[in-house]
Amino acid sequence: MRQSSLVVVAMRLPIDDSVAPDGACEWRRSPGGLVSALHPLLRQTPATWVGWAGGSGPAPSLPDVDGVRMHTVPLTLDDLRDHYEGFANATLWPLYHDAVEQPEHHRRWWEAYQRVNQRYAEATAAVAEPGAIVWVQDYHLQLVPGLLRALRPDLRIGFFLHVPFPPPELFMQLPRRAELLRGMLGADLVGFQRAQAAHNFAQLTTKVLGVSATDRRIAVDDRVVRIGAFPVSIDTVEMSALAGSPEVAERAQRFRRDLGDPAHVILSVDRMDYTKGIEQRLTAYSELLASGHVKVRDTVLVQVAVPSRERVGQYQVLRDRVEREVGRINGEFGRVGEPAIHYLTQPFDRAELAALYRVADVMAVTPLRDGMNLVAKEYVAARVDDSGALLLSEFAGSATELSQAYLVNPHDLEGLKQGLLSALEADPADVTARMRAMRAHLHRYDIRAWARSYLSALDEGGSLLHRLGGP
Ligand code: ADP
Ligand code: F6P
Repeated sequence: MRQSSLVVVAMRLPIDDSVAPDGACEWRRSPGGLVSALHPLLRQTPATWVGWAGGSGPAPSLPDVDGVRMHTVPLTLDDLRDHYEGFANATLWPLYHDAVEQPEHHRRWWEAYQRVNQRYAEATAAVAEPGAIVWVQDYHLQLVPGLLRALRPDLRIGFFLHVPFPPPELFMQLPRRAELLRGMLGADLVGFQRAQAAHNFAQLTTKVLGVSATDRRIAVDDRVVRIGAFPVSIDTVEMSALAGSPEVAERAQRFRRDLGDPAHVILSVDRMDYTKGIEQRLTAYSELLASGHVKVRDTVLVQVAVPSRERVGQYQVLRDRVEREVGRINGEFGRVGEPAIHYLTQPFDRAELAALYRVADVMAVTPLRDGMNLVAKEYVAARVDDSGALLLSEFAGSATELSQAYLVNPHDLEGLKQGLLSALEADPADVTARMRAMRAHLHRYDIRAWARSYLSALDEGGSLLHRLGGP
């Protein structure tokens, strides 16, 4: 077995399969932010990425992708049902997002969560060379740091949670709360999106495990676990360059024409998820149409909502409700050839997404709770002419950094309506000043800065990053 000095562990491998012209299956690097951030470093080491390749059969043996070794972890249909759809996405996901939907608890899901985490830990132990750096990602794998430390105490282990970490009153509902906390404490560094999450974690470890904790350090057995906030970001340069290209500018113009050349385009781009506040936004928009504050000929809403986790009941119910409401609003307020809402459930390629961002005078990002929300950052990066108003939920992690956005509380219907109107009617000079400040921030704190700050904190002595020249 080939071993690496740097190992990234995530539920999914960063690749997509596609069919080559000769009909053969090809694996390509997927366009995710994490892989873009780490790729320069992963390529130099060489490193290994441990994860699931999709499907439910035996793990395929994959070639290296762009110089990065792919180590596959097999998952069965039962694993997917009970670990991914069950414990990860019907217990932890709703609980970590303020329980906006009711979390479900089933012993069978917990058993699958343990079993799958054990499989990832064993796969990682097999590919990490002595003293390697291992970076474990997200809520699907919270037990991996502890399980891995038991197998390989020589490793330097990092854990990063991409989603919110809830306050004690919510986390305390989890029947297996102590095991989950102990799992995370197997890491040397536990990273969160926001300082509040690190604070919640510190409080919980004291309350549940009785250990001594501050918002920066937790004493566990004979070790110190460091914790902190490392807000994830995007490839700002790449998105700005794409959005600034003549092809994307031309595509944006065509989009505007196809939309009927309205005075205002409002855009929302979400996964179809109950945390994203899609229904609340539709209600606000419908009331603005009904009161005449917004007129169909003048303003269009483009709602992109790509289906997600479609086998989980709460996601099926949400999609039905959203589609019924879009139909109602279009039926009531649309005209022939002029729908009130352009509703799209398709995936878009990056250039089309950039063109949509460029056409949007107002970008409405109003989740009820979100770890970060990269869409908000992508919109800002795409506004190369410093125009465009970002309407942003206070409950998105990105609101901490993008404080010049038009901030709203999406639970407050009147506030949401007012926020939309303010963004639509804002003075262009105010819009530009806000956008400039946000763009300057994102150019400084991009995805590479994020990976560098996390990995240099994890690699305290600095030997790995120093040897490699940093990501
Ligand atoms: P989450 O991680 O909860 O899905 P984020 O906003 O942080 O939410 O990230 C969503 C990512 O998915 C962004 O990079 C965005 O560009 C991408 N995305 C969302 N909708 C689509 C779509 N219809 N087609 C292609 N990419 C999409
Ligand atoms: O942001 C949390 C997250 O789980 C990401 O890890 C993932 O890319 C995204 O949501 C989409 O979720 P899924 O992998 O379940 O499709």
